[in-house]
Amino acid sequence: MRLTIIQIMEENPPSENFSLKDLPSASKIDVVSRCILSIFSNNIEQLDISFQAIFSKTDIHVLTVNELPLTDEIYDEISVASLIKEVMQNTKSSNGDISWASVVDFQQYIFSVVSNHQTTYYLHENGLSIKEIKDVLLREESLCFIIGGRHDISQEHEKILDSLGAQQISLGKKIYLASTCITSVLFELEKQFEH
Ligand SMILES: C[S@@+](CC[C@H](N)C(=O)[O-])C[C@H]1O[C@@H](n2cnc3c(N)ncnc32)[C@H](O)[C@@H]1O
Repeated sequence: MRLTIIQIMEENPPSENFSLKDLPSASKIDVVSRCILSIFSNNIEQLDISFQAIFSKTDIHVLTVNELPLTDEIYDEISVASLIKEVMQNTKSSNGDISWASVVDFQQYIFSVVSNHQTTYYLHENGLSIKEIKDVLLREESLCFIIGGRHDISQEHEKILDSLGAQQISLGKKIYLASTCITSVLFELEKQFEH
C-alpha cells in the first residue's frame, strides 16, 4: 500500500542555519523530526511511505522524506534535524531520499497530492472514530493522511481539505502529539495486514 502522510505546519519555513541546540525555535522542527522518527526508524514491509511537512505560513516550502540515509547510528531528533538542515543547505551528500522545495500555491499543491490517492483522511479529534474505517484501510492501495503540527491546522486550510473531500478521522478525544497519532495510524494499518 502507498501511504502519504502530510503534516501541515502553520509556521514559516525554518532558516537554513537553524540551531540544532534549539529545535523548537526553528519553526518547531522538533515536531517534524519526531514524526519522521515515528515513521522511518523501522519499516512495515507492506507500506511504501512518503512523509511531507509543509511550512505553510509565508514563503511556503515542503520537506519530503521517502527514506532516511542508511547509517550504523540510531537516529534521534537531532540527527534527523541535522539531515533536514543539510537538505535545506543542499549539502546532503549521502543516500536516502529527502528533498526541500518551494511551493507556489498551497491549495494547488495539496490538490496535486490528494488527487494522487484513492482516499484522504484528516486526523482530528472531533472526527469519525478510526474504528469506523478499518475495512476501508485494508481495501485501499493508496491512502493519504493529513495531520497538524504544534498548532492546529488553520480554518482557511481546513476549508481547503474539506473542499478536497478529506474525511476527519479521530483517534479519541484526547489531544495527542502528532508523532503519537502517526504511530497509532501505522499500528492500525499493521494490525490490518495481519488479518
Ligand atoms: C499536537 S496536535 C495540535 C495541537 C493541539 N490541538 C493542541 O491543542 O495542542 C497535532 C495534530 O495531531 C492530530 N491529533 C491530535 N490528537 C488527535 C486525536 N485525538 N485524533 C485525531 N487526530 C489528532 C491533529 O491533526 C492535530 O492537528
